[in-house]
Amino acid sequence: MPRERSAAFAPGRVNLIGEHTDYNEGLALPFAIAEGVTVHAEARPPSGGEQRVEVFASDLRERDEFPLEDPPREAGWRAFVRGTVAELGRAGFPLIGARLQFGGDVPRGAGLSSSAALEVALCLALLDLGAEPTSGSPLERVERTELARLCARVERDWVGARTGLLDQLASLYGSSDAALCIDFRSLVVERVPLRLGAWKLVVLDSGERHSLASSGYNQRREECARACELLGVRSLRDADREAAWRLPDPLRRRAAHVIGENRRVRAAVAALRAGDLPTIGELLNASHESLRDDYEVSTAAVEAAVSLLREAGAAGARLVGGGFGGSVLGLFAPATKPPAGAREVRPGPGARVLD
Ligand code: GLA
Repeated sequence: MPRERSAAFAPGRVNLIGEHTDYNEGLALPFAIAEGVTVHAEARPPSGGEQRVEVFASDLRERDEFPLEDPPREAGWRAFVRGTVAELGRAGFPLIGARLQFGGDVPRGAGLSSSAALEVALCLALLDLGAEPTSGSPLERVERTELARLCARVERDWVGARTGLLDQLASLYGSSDAALCIDFRSLVVERVPLRLGAWKLVVLDSGERHSLASSGYNQRREECARACELLGVRSLRDADREAAWRLPDPLRRRAAHVIGENRRVRAAVAALRAGDLPTIGELLNASHESLRDDYEVSTAAVEAAVSLLREAGAAGARLVGGGFGGSVLGLFAPATKPPAGAREVRPGPGARVLD
């Protein structure tokens, strides 16, 4: 009997370090968090000969309904759901009409990848629904990188944000007690144990919601592409520091950020392996300075949140995700106390189909 019901969970993520490197074939070191999005799916018989999808967004108490084949475009959260259904269909995955319900505990627009969590959980629930139980879980049938690419097409073609694969890969590969060193050229994902002992990683919401589609995110991507053209390289991964320094401003500073950030990711991996958390703190601070001054993706609200963490004694603090609002991350040594409103985050397991 094909499965009549299915449910899937996908986590949000925190990026320890390696920001705006994914679409530059660089390196990043994210981890999946415990918070995420759960999607429940149930087979829906065709109405009037047409297969349709009904959706209930339980946190927002809003609905949507659309044809399974060629869903028309819509804005807001509906774009993510319609886009995921459409891209799965376009990629040739067999889907059936469904009633979907989703909700979660990653705050939206807070830089913790609520959108990737929604896309990934939708993919898993939709691929599981209607499948023969003997065919195994979608994660056994489909490559995680293929799913991540499909979700990035949803962001680009349905939502208008030309994101990289950071958020989706972090959600799909998440692992308890480990960060994931992702090489965005080879797409090799390596687990790096994140042993914090009595140290704490916390996130603090700047209170400023961000939307990648309407922020300067796409503009930064264009600037990186232009810098590559001028340097004659395929991606900023190949850029040489001295040549980059001769680029016109602001391209010079954009390239400098990416080159420095890749180096900081390598240093962070070495520090984690050596159990050297004070160095991680310094790297977080250096990453933030580079994102603020060279990449220019910080805002007054983000700066205020970073200052709050540093005044409370953080060993390091920086913005996470695309910037232009969202959350900041802080690392606290055992004797220090994070400020009110900061929430502790720990690495957790990746996306999965629920029983
Ligand atoms: C957002 C995007 C990611 C990545 C980060 C910046 O989270 O979705 O692909 O580019 O910004 O590191």
